[in-house]
Amino acid sequence: MRLASPHINIIMKACNKASRSLIRDFGEIEKLQVSSKGPGDFVSSSDKRTEKTIINELQKAHPEYGIITEESGVINKSNIKNRWIIDPIDGTNNFLNGIPHFAISIGYEENNEIKCGVIFDPIKNEMFCAEKGNGAFLNNSRIRVSKKKKLQDSLLVTGGPKHSSKIKEDIFTEFVKISKVPFSSVRKFGSAALDIAYVACGRFDGYWQRELNYWDIAAGIIILKEAGGFVDFFEEDNNAPLKRNILASNSSIHEELSKLIIKKNIE
Ligand code: IPD
Ligand code: CA
Ligand code: CA
Repeated sequence: MRLASPHINIIMKACNKASRSLIRDFGEIEKLQVSSKGPGDFVSSSDKRTEKTIINELQKAHPEYGIITEESGVINKSNIKNRWIIDPIDGTNNFLNGIPHFAISIGYEENNEIKCGVIFDPIKNEMFCAEKGNGAFLNNSRIRVSKKKKLQDSLLVTGGPKHSSKIKEDIFTEFVKISKVPFSSVRKFGSAALDIAYVACGRFDGYWQRELNYWDIAAGIIILKEAGGFVDFFEEDNNAPLKRNILASNSSIHEELSKLIIKKNIE
């Protein structure tokens, strides 16, 4: 791999360390403690342990940096210049059901801009990573978005809605609308981080999802951009700075897809 900034090295090291117990836990999920954060929203002892290991590793290198995490909230709140953004297991529902499709996602942000990120699928041993200006990689190979020219024929991916969503019906309506595009197909794989990583490496042509959290996609943003993809955050809400609606795709289908989904009131 040709990425070598200190920050990406710190993140990779943290991913590798945390993945050891994560892989072990995946082999004995029946032993994990699981609690519910809300309807259909679970957290396990493995999410917490993985996050703790990652935080410890990152803090060893930079104790003063801010950290936004899914399970422990915000650490060093006053440092908004340098921040790590962590999702210890993206795809917890897959993980808890024994489905080998989940990932650790860690991004690094400087002055509100994502500079580098890693999405690591420990079961398939696939590490997606990128740093600004130096391209995106899957393990040792450079990756790029697909070359598909038309939405027609595209393979798309989405996720949600959450059970708690207030716009659930609208999201389903949007899903049906996009699913009806002739000859294209839509998947729901259950890990936002891997959904974006798969667009970045050309497995999917496009991804959209509403009501995500920033930690789901922080690392994915830089990986997708460095792979030549386009990313839009539509209908941003200033009162919810950690929430995101995202459209990520190759540049050819971006406009066609955005016409179907970026509307103030979903038709
Ligand atoms: C979830 C996954 C899922 C997406 C949800 C996320 P989690 O993250 O990314 O694909 O549809 O909106 O919350 O809870 O597994 O970290
Ligand atoms: Ca997540
Ligand atoms: Ca998570």
